[in-house]
Formats: sequence, C-alpha cells, structure tokens
Amino acid sequence: KTFIVNASRPGAPVQPTMYGVFFEDINMGADGGIYAELVKNRSFEFNNPLMGWTVNGKKEEGDLLVLNSHTYNKANPNFLRLKVHNRRKGEWGLTNEGFRGMGIRAGVSYQLSMMYRTAKPGITIHAELMNAKGKVIGHTAFDAAPGTGDWQTKALSFTAAEQDTSAKLTLWLEGNGTIDLDMISLFPGDTWKNRPKGLRADMVQMLADMKPGFIRFPGGCIVEGRDLANRFQWKKTVGPVENRELIINRWNTEFNHRLTPDYYQSFGLGFFEYFQLAEDIGAAPLPILNCGMACQFNTAELVPMEDLQPYIQDAIDLVEFANGPATSTWGKVRADMGHPEPFHLTMLGVGNENWGPQYIERARAFAAALKAKHPEIKLVFSSGTDPNGARFDFLNDTLRKMNADFIDEHYYRSPEWFLANAARYDNYPRNGSKVFAGEYAAHEDKNFVGSDRNTLRAAIAEAAFLTGLERNADVVHMASYAPLFASAEAWQWAPDLIWVNNLQVVGTPSYQVQKLYSLNKGTHVLPLLSANKPVTGQDSLYASAVIDEQKKEIIVKVVNVSQQAVTGKIQLQGKNNLSKTATLTTLAGNDPVAVNRFNNQPVAPVETAVAVNKQSVALTLAPNSLQVLRIKY
Ligand code: AHR
Repeated sequence: KTFIVNASRPGAPVQPTMYGVFFEDINMGADGGIYAELVKNRSFEFNNPLMGWTVNGKKEEGDLLVLNSHTYNKANPNFLRLKVHNRRKGEWGLTNEGFRGMGIRAGVSYQLSMMYRTAKPGITIHAELMNAKGKVIGHTAFDAAPGTGDWQTKALSFTAAEQDTSAKLTLWLEGNGTIDLDMISLFPGDTWKNRPKGLRADMVQMLADMKPGFIRFPGGCIVEGRDLANRFQWKKTVGPVENRELIINRWNTEFNHRLTPDYYQSFGLGFFEYFQLAEDIGAAPLPILNCGMACQFNTAELVPMEDLQPYIQDAIDLVEFANGPATSTWGKVRADMGHPEPFHLTMLGVGNENWGPQYIERARAFAAALKAKHPEIKLVFSSGTDPNGARFDFLNDTLRKMNADFIDEHYYRSPEWFLANAARYDNYPRNGSKVFAGEYAAHEDKNFVGSDRNTLRAAIAEAAFLTGLERNADVVHMASYAPLFASAEAWQWAPDLIWVNNLQVVGTPSYQVQKLYSLNKGTHVLPLLSANKPVTGQDSLYASAVIDEQKKEIIVKVVNVSQQAVTGKIQLQGKNNLSKTATLTTLAGNDPVAVNRFNNQPVAPVETAVAVNKQSVALTLAPNSLQVLRIKY
C-alpha cells in the first residue's frame, strides 16, 4: 500500500474548534463527578429531603424537623431544625453518605462549611470523617454561637489522615439548645486551580490534556428536560450557590445500569463555572439552550409560539452574561462572580435533538431574534439522531435553506456504521451550513462485549470515521464524542469517553483516539491518495493528512481496522526539506475487544522514531490500529 501525500498546495483550513468535548450531567458527570462537592443533598431539597442522610441516636418527636420556608429562600426553601437535649458527643447527629461514598486522600485538606442559625450558645458541632470501616480519619469542631445576624456561615478545614474510597461525614451535636442547619458542604482543598468549592482536578486535567477546541454544555437531553419545568434554565444556575434552585436530573432512574433515584442537579456547576472551565482549558464555549421543547423522547411538552419570547430572551441575555460589559445587567452578574472580563462567546446552540415542524418554527423565531441582535454569534441547530432517516434529511435540508451556521448531527451507531460512513461528507454541499458532529460514539453490541462497551474496536472505528471528518474539514468544523464522563458506580449510558470512581479516572481507547486527533489537528488539509483515490476503507485501511504550518510538520493518520498487520509506505511530495526522522505514535492491540480499566490500561499510545528515506516512510500497520506520523520540514 502506498499513500501519496502532497504538501505542495495545502487545502482547506482545519478549524481551531475541530475536536472538542461534549459535557452533560449524565452518569453522575457533574454532581458526584467533576463538581467536587462530597455531600449529597447538602441543602435538603431532594424530593425526599433526607435522602443521603442518616439520623444517628434516639430521637423524640420534634427533635428533627425539615422546615420548608419560601420566605427563607425561594430557591432553596428546606432546612433542618434540630433540638439538642443535653446530648454528649456521639449521641445525636447526622451522617451523609456522599455520592456512593466520599473519595478521601490522605494529607489533603478538606473544607467543611455550613449555614446555621441558633438563638443561644450551648451547642458544639463535631464533624467526623469516617472510613468504610467506621474509623475516624479526619475531624474538626466548633461552638455554634449566635451571630449578629440571622443565618451565618461557618467554614473550617481539617486534614485527612488516611485515604478511603467510600468515607462518610458525620456531624455530632453536643450540648443543649436548638439549631437550624442548611448547605452542609465538604470539598477537597486540592480542586482544579485550588478554587474553593471547585472542580475535581483529575477530571479537568483529562480534558485539558486533550486541548479541546470547544466545550459544548450543558448537554444533551438535560437541556430539554423530561418536562419543561425540569429543563435547564441557565439563569437559575448563576450567582451564590445557595440561591440556585435544584431540580431532579432527567437521567434520574432512567435507562439505568445502577439505579440512580438520588440523581439531582444542584447546579453548583452552573453557567459561570462552565464558561470558566472553557476558558481554563482553552476551549471555545458552546452553550446549547432549550428552544421551547421538552425532550421528545419523554413528555415532548411544547411551549406555544405566543409564549416563546422568554426562551428567546434567555438566549439574548446569555450573550450579555458572557460578553456584555460589567456594567450591563447580566455582565454585572458575571463580574460580581469574579469575572469582569468577557468570556468571548461566539457560538450558541438552539435545541438538542428536537425535530418536526414545531422545531423548525421555533428555530426560525430564535434565529430571527438572535441574528438581529447578535449577528456576531454563530448559531447551531440540531438535525438529531437518525443519520440515515427521512426526518434527518428533512431537517438537514430545511436548516440548510435557513442558512443555519452549523447543523448538529448525532450518531450512536455500530462500529460497522462508522466504517461505512467514513466518506459521509465527501459529497456534502461545499457552501452554506457547516457540520457539527455534536455527539457520536461507536456502540458495540452489549450482548457480545458487556455493558460498558468501550472496546478498542469501537475506538478504531471512530478513528477511521474521523479520517473522513478531517478530509472534509472545509465542511466539518466541529466534532465531539459523547457522553464525556461516567461514574463506574452510577451510570445510565455507555459507552463513554472517560470513566471515573471516587478517586480515579481512566481514559478509554476512544479517549486516546480523540486526544490523538485533537493534539494532531494541524492547520490545513492535505490531499492523501492511494491508487489515485482517497483512502476510505479499501483493504480495511483509512487515512487522512494535514499540515501544521505553525509547527512546520506534516501529519498523516492511518487506520487499520483489520485483524492482520499490513505493510505500507507513505510517500511525501511537495517538500524537499524533510527531516530524516519522523515520530510515529501508534494506538493498537491484538485484542479488538480490549478495554482500559482503572488499574489496567492496555490501550495506550506508544511513540517511536522512524526513518524518512527519499521522501518516504515505510510502515507496518498493526491490527486494530491508529498511527499518527509527524514529519518536520
Ligand atoms: O449523550 C447521551 C444522550 O444522547 C444525550 O443526552 C442526547 O442528546 C442523546 O440522545
């Protein structure tokens, strides 16, 4: 096999946004995941207000009450009232179980905080972190004295003595009196960038390592909500966390591998934090907003056109929140949260997996209002989930006629579909709307490979498909695998890009593929031919090439989806000052159903040096492999 790469005339630019990430609070991705809060149901707002909590010690009627007061806080009306009758430490208290336990690291400082209210001194609160065997591995205490105001916030820190994957937090109440408690919270001190009450550093690092071009948030189906009351409303996710109104997660107890009746959205990870995350990892923010339609796979609730304006206004206000001056209404909210500079929003999505004439009608109304007010913002519209169906074609055609800037295509299909579609965009119209491959993953048959399905073969099929996106970078401007994160303890959907437990993260073979593409995206497409044709599956091989004009490198990607090694040669034309050695990164494995686990990651990239001889490089393409060749000029 000879692949001829011609670098004399670089083709279309590869967009800086080309490879990004799709974040949704599914599989405990946010609460119980990247949002590092360890206390579940910290504000007693779950449908069962004590879910996640156990009451310790004998109680009499009235010793523990859950008060629901909208005059106290409309967004967060519940709090606890505890009576303490001459109790000693260890007699009366509460334990929080965390999100399938709390992951605790030895030597790390933990930040405990709570809001409390009491009329008189007399109560001491002892906080104890206990490991799975009940041993205390960290503790602190304070005397709950009344303050000058009504409620007050107490913040303390202590260091954990031992590591544990499933610790619990107990608060013992000692003394006499009555005390109200709310927002009981515990965070590790070593969050991403050490931000107080921030994000899990190891999970963010996995994203930062990919250098993603964009981050799409907050989903996915949670944008739409199971019903409209439970849709994602960004305005309710900004400002002080105690004023963010919690809702039930659309993925609560549905499509469940492990039952997740405790799946709620606290919105501690809200729109400010999403924008900040995007900025931290150098990704363009891509928020997707509800278009007046609830999830069409659920209730399919619909806002009548005459009531759509508040939804459109939310989109207009979001542009102000992200980009407006600190003196504007929503820019001020951002500035008050600590970010007076703009977040540089350039794209906005309208609806997720919505369809039918109802979607088109609403999409047109959003487009008209947003383009009039913010012509600088590019709009993303969705063409949904059925890439070979009539509905998909209809939406695509209609959205193209509407001059949609981007059309968001989703494909969760078999590995074979991905291979068969590697040339999907070769004949796509070159002018007009651009493609956003917004959610994709090769889904193995779970009866064959097991329920989590993140095999090497699936990843290699995605790699083959990505050669087609890269070759067509003039029309495909963005691509993201989905979903991004999954908790091994509580997930609803698989496969996923990154698996986590309370203390560990693991990149799947698909993660390695996405990362290799993202780190090797180049700046322009180069033509790559074999026997005068693009390589789109002949002899089980797929290939594409780019040039990086800044780093002065030619980058060739070759995928072998067969079970046999294939010998080949890359012949480079158009540059006669090539370096004598090149770097070859290979992701491969003899077992097509190999998977990466927390403690064993057989599918990892391996880098070697290879010789460049008379403008050509000889390669042996391993079975089930992606190879990325970088040659300096
Ligand atoms: O990625 C999981 C789900 O798949 C998303 O929420 C939805 O957009 C799609 O159906």
